[in-house]
Amino acid sequence: MMHTALLDKAKHDRNRFHCGIESLDNYLKISANQQAKRDNTRTFVLEDANDNSHIVGFYTLTMTTIALSALPDKLQKKHRSSTSGGLIARLAVDQRYKGQGFGEWLLIDALRKLLTASDSVAFPFVIVDAKDGAIRFYQRYGFRAFRDIPNKLFITVADLRVSLAR
Ligand SMILES: CC(C)(COP(=O)(O)OP(=O)(O)OC[C@H]1O[C@@H](n2cnc3c(N)ncnc32)[C@H](O)[C@@H]1OP(=O)(O)O)[C@@H](O)C(=O)NCCC(=O)NCCS
Repeated sequence: MMHTALLDKAKHDRNRFHCGIESLDNYLKISANQQAKRDNTRTFVLEDANDNSHIVGFYTLTMTTIALSALPDKLQKKHRSSTSGGLIARLAVDQRYKGQGFGEWLLIDALRKLLTASDSVAFPFVIVDAKDGAIRFYQRYGFRAFRDIPNKLFITVADLRVSLAR
């Protein structure tokens, strides 16, 4: 069964990873490990089953502040006392592995982790930083646009609880 592991710089070949967006490659190479050591973010990788030093894809999780005023009115009202949301800060698949369902698998894995976290430290939204073509990728899974904030999408934890229930 596939599972993600915490990024381990001694084990995972970060330099080999190329997703087509240099800033994402560089985050994995240069920042992800340092940021994890400082408890600022966590980065999880999916290893190639044939060589566990090869990174198929990764995602990075942390928390963010919610832009309440950019939410639909009904949600603003419902969550007006909340300040934090779970954030998928980065998610990418190596070019060699694209188009094989790994992006979808990583997204669902990330959402499951966030849903589990929300059971103990409640937060009402998951937010994703999505650039360029990736916006359509996330919309397929129910993420919606904020008012006036490009490149950020949200989904409610309530919706995730329903869609991730087996
Ligand atoms: C976006 C990305 C993560 C998708 O990964 P992937 O492994 O190729 O995606 P999958 O094979 O799991 O695709 C799942 C579904 O989404 C669709 N899809 C993939 N990329 C898409 C995109 N950019 N826009 C819309 N739909 C997309 C696929 O066609 C597939 O649909 P299907 O099941 O009907 O065939 C990957 O292309 C990537 O790493 N891009 C560069 C980094 C990036 O943009 N990251 C997001 C910003 S943080």
